[in-house]
Amino acid sequence: MTRPLPELTVGILGAGTVGSQVIRILESSSADFAQRSGAGLSIGAVLVRDPGAPRDVEIDPALLTTDPAAAIDGMDLVVELIGGIEPARTLVRRALRQGTSVVTGNKALLAAHGPELYEAAAASGADLYYEAAVAGAVPVVYGLRESLAGDRITKVMGIVNGTTNFILDAMDSQGLGYADALAEAQRLGYAEADPTADVEGLDAAAKCSILASLAFHTRVGIDDVEVEGITRVTAEDMAQARREGRVIKLLAIAERRTGDDGREGVSMRVHPAQIPADHPLASVDGAFNAIVVEGEAAGRLMFYGQGAGGAPTASAVLSDVVAAAHHRAYGGHAPRESVYAHLPVLDPGCARTRYHVRMRVEDSIGVLADVAGVFAGHGASIQAVSQHDDSEPGACSLIVTTHMAREADLRAVVRALGHCTSVREIVSAIRVEGD
Ligand code: NDP
Ligand code: HSE
Repeated sequence: MTRPLPELTVGILGAGTVGSQVIRILESSSADFAQRSGAGLSIGAVLVRDPGAPRDVEIDPALLTTDPAAAIDGMDLVVELIGGIEPARTLVRRALRQGTSVVTGNKALLAAHGPELYEAAAASGADLYYEAAVAGAVPVVYGLRESLAGDRITKVMGIVNGTTNFILDAMDSQGLGYADALAEAQRLGYAEADPTADVEGLDAAAKCSILASLAFHTRVGIDDVEVEGITRVTAEDMAQARREGRVIKLLAIAERRTGDDGREGVSMRVHPAQIPADHPLASVDGAFNAIVVEGEAAGRLMFYGQGAGGAPTASAVLSDVVAAAHHRAYGGHAPRESVYAHLPVLDPGCARTRYHVRMRVEDSIGVLADVAGVFAGHGASIQAVSQHDDSEPGACSLIVTTHMAREADLRAVVRALGHCTSVREIVSAIRVEGD
């Protein structure tokens, strides 16, 4: 005779884009989830702000509540899909302190307050799962935390924000300006009404810090990431990159490297960069995400897929629910935060990169020598120079691409060019990666 499966009750905090899809899939495939997790899963309560608001999916009105205690206390698992810092932080802590495992998709919360939450989970023996917090449906958290636990990761580089990738792709493929591409992203529902966290690179920075913590077994947060968003990228920047066989992407880059003092540390940055058109990340279009991970033994791996959206993100949330439910029913726990390496966060200036500098200069004798002198004076070697006609009388357009150099030296070059009498205007300075 088969023994009945244990029954677990799940509290869902939030029934918006992602929460509503989690509820739909969990309810429509309950028999499958019971087999996969080894426990019957039923929804005990759904916390929302407004129980009367229209929902994407039908939810039993008896489950909806505005009382956090009703959705947390006494539950076997809690799924946090409210977003933001508060009240999510307080509610997740409340669940973890009770020994209730939590599944969250909240990268902003983890990047700002991850350590206290991991500690609360460890102290009470609860699981804290967060696959959906980075790259939606793409199982990169599992990949780094479990599949690659046997390797030494040296670099993680990826496109981790779907909204900005959609905008840059629209600028590249349709020739749209930044404002028009953003408006298109908003019209299609990719960008929020307030798109600041996406376009200023903050969402990508939060994800970058989560990936770096996992890859390098070191505690880092969003404030450790050097961030530049996409708001200054122009259609002409995109067209120029294309003419030179490259595309511009917003990259999140986390590296294990040697700092100026000779010690190994972690360097993290988010910024737009030109990458070769044949680089694997160059063909990631629309709102898709992709992350390239370099391991000493595994070599280069690429994770690719839908980085946002209700159903894709619900897929990641539910994989965590299955794992947490199995632990709850049969024992065991998720991998704990691994921070044994304690690597220092390196000064952003010691990152190594290349710059592509586009400037308007005087069209006169000696200008090229002046400009080249500025690069040489800061130890930045020039890889390519091209000169073009400019619509401004007496000026020409000069494009200089450097070899690899220290970020701090390349920034100093750009500052010095700004004071160079031969240079009328620095039109753009964009990093070049992935060669
Ligand atoms: P939504 O804004 O669509 O939904 C938020 C839900 O939380 C709503 O149901 C809302 O209630 C509820 N809520 C908000 N504040 C409170 C509060 N103070 N008390 C009670 N309930 C509250 O968010 P998403 O579904 O888009 O995102 C959820 C999480 O998933 C976020 O952390 C996000 O970063 C993450 N994520 C989202 C992705 C996406 O594509 N959307 C992709 C990957 C991760 P009400 O409906 O009544 O307003
Ligand atoms: N705003 C995020 C993006 C949602 O555009 O990628 C997924 O985290």
